[in-house]
Amino acid sequence: MSDHLTVVDHPLVQHKLTLMREKHTSTAVFRQLLREISHLIAYEVTRDLPMTTKNIDTPLVEMDAPTLKGKKLALISILRAGNGLLDGVLELIPSARVGFVGLYRDEETLQPVQYYYKVPAEMDQRVVIAVDPMLATGNSSAAAIDLLKESGAKDIRFLCLLAAPEGVARMKERHPDVPIITGALDERLNDKGYILPGLGDAGDRMFGTK
Ligand code: URA
Repeated sequence: MSDHLTVVDHPLVQHKLTLMREKHTSTAVFRQLLREISHLIAYEVTRDLPMTTKNIDTPLVEMDAPTLKGKKLALISILRAGNGLLDGVLELIPSARVGFVGLYRDEETLQPVQYYYKVPAEMDQRVVIAVDPMLATGNSSAAAIDLLKESGAKDIRFLCLLAAPEGVARMKERHPDVPIITGALDERLNDKGYILPGLGDAGDRMFGTK
């Protein structure tokens, strides 16, 4: 992948996003839509995966059939909201390895602090897809990508539902080699760091918390 930002402007993605943005959409419907939309966005993020062939026997003949090349993909959920996207992406790529990055923001320094980190082995040999529904300021996403690179990851893609221009700019500055695939590019952040028009707090909406 080379383009830094891809907006998946497929009609189904846009329609489902509109339903997710609506404030009266229930938790159950929000989760179902998230699952459906994650399939569609994952389709786009995996479009250029490296391929090879393997020799197989169909019931009729032998053939060299296309198959994914290399080590299994690594899906990395940026906690906690990443888990909602992770489930749907895993349905599409069930053999992927899975890792988790937990970061919180230190209220004094405003810097992201790591509280959990566990990723698959041999990250340098995998296509790594980091998932987080909301790319807002980009600070925690960029910090998560720093950690993945420290683990050796070289081919990283970032998958989200909504991105703010501020977050895209931050990622481009810190990680120009990491393409972003998003359902939509919204207008801006508000003074509390929420994406506008956005969909609110993605974690609260998918887990039914406040
Ligand atoms: N995280 C969210 O869940 N929503 C936003 O709008 C921004 C960050």
